[in-house]
Amino acid sequence: MAAVYGDGDASFQAAGAQAGIKRLVDHFYDHMERAPAAAAIRGMHPENLEVSRDKLYCFLCGWLGGEKLFAPKYGPIMIPRAHAHLEIGEPERDAWLLCMEKAVAEQPYAEDFKAYLLREIFVPAERCRVFSQRRIEAEQAE
Ligand code: HEM
Repeated sequence: MAAVYGDGDASFQAAGAQAGIKRLVDHFYDHMERAPAAAAIRGMHPENLEVSRDKLYCFLCGWLGGEKLFAPKYGPIMIPRAHAHLEIGEPERDAWLLCMEKAVAEQPYAEDFKAYLLREIFVPAERCRVFSQRRIEAEQAE
């Protein structure tokens, strides 16, 4: 029986394991550097994206069911909390997702995995928006 994405390391393997995820992240940040719609979120990042690329790569390896590379190298992380200091509304969330959509489209992944991955990654992206908005509202209420 074919593996179900989300079970064990099925998603990690479908994404081409470490080399495939590295390529995905590189394409993702290349789009963020080029896409006019992503200019605002590019501007929130450090000038040099090398560490950002490595962090997203390490995070996604574990998130997709592969080796958990992020915590040993960078410490524990909770994605929405790590973004709460940023100003993320729907436009910023959608710009991030657009870069991911463009990057995923370029990968040699199975079509059903591409659709699955984009559906799944919407969830943490939306949680980043919600955390960011809650932080902004709490500050305004002070
Ligand atoms: C919702 C739209 C998102 C925006 C606008 C966004 C933007 C950013 C920015 C600007 C940084 C650098 C923060 C800094 O240096 O202070 C960052 C870091 C990071 N982002 Fe996102 N992000 C988004 C969603 C996501 C999602 C969905 C994931 C994972 C699936 C993710 C994973 C990461 C990781 C692992 C880091 C490094 C965190 C750290 O430095 O500890 N991001 N993001």
